Amino acid sequence: MRNSAFNTATTAASRIPDKGALSQITSVLRRVLLALAHSARRALASSLLLPVAMMPLLLASPSRGEEAPVPDAAQLANARASIKGLGENLKHQLMAAIKEGGPIAAVSVCRTIAPAIAEQQSHAHGVKVGRTALKVRNPGNAPDAFERRVLEDFVRQIAEGADATKLEHAEIVSDGGGRVLRYMKAIPMAAQPCATCHGAELSPELKAEIARLYPDDQATGFKPGELRGAFSVTEKLN
Ligand code: HEC
Repeated sequence: MRNSAFNTATTAASRIPDKGALSQITSVLRRVLLALAHSARRALASSLLLPVAMMPLLLASPSRGEEAPVPDAAQLANARASIKGLGENLKHQLMAAIKEGGPIAAVSVCRTIAPAIAEQQSHAHGVKVGRTALKVRNPGNAPDAFERRVLEDFVRQIAEGADATKLEHAEIVSDGGGRVLRYMKAIPMAAQPCATCHGAELSPELKAEIARLYPDDQATGFKPGELRGAFSVTEKLN
């Protein structure tokens, strides 16, 4: 096509050019130049595009190291739902128990009812719900490495002015070849009823009862607004 256009141009030029022939030659030449420019541009573009097209592959390669993929909307919604209202529910039950039988009797609420509700929620949502903290009362609630890192991050964010009632973190981690969704939501310390059992001054009887049940208790001396702990949700994805 390029040749025939060229031929037309030469033949036309060998004749005495009138006005119409001249404009025909110019338009043919322009088309030839455009076609040449176009193919040159295409060649240049593809040589530039190749590395660009490969970039996602390079980014996704495992050699990039630690990644922190985030769960999709449905996974996150399920994790959130599994602990929805748990804090309020516990608080409500603790208040009622303290009112009814005093703080010593209420210890059993945090001790038995909290894990029971967590168990029930776990079944309902196909996840594992627990509570953890940097300073624990029950050593069975001690954080694993992931939880510790997130709790420390919550503490840092609260120190920087974040609203503790809104702090959450979700991440998909790999665990022994499988993928696991991890979700945590901060539990802020509140004056009431939390201070009765986690504050700076516990009544001597309550102190004795807690020491009897939890000889290694670390969970006192918290001030309202501080991070008391977190709900921690784990879901095996495959
Ligand atoms: C009547 C006493 C009592 C009150 C009031 C109370 N707790 Fe607890 N809390 C406990 C006991 C006992 C445990 C240990 C439970 C267990 O064995 O798992 C505990 C455990 C926890 C844990 C799990 C981590 C750990 O330390 O083992 C968190 C988080 C927690 N409490 C937060 C709160 C918050 C927030 C409030 C206020 C809404 C509160 N508690 C009020 C007695 C109390």
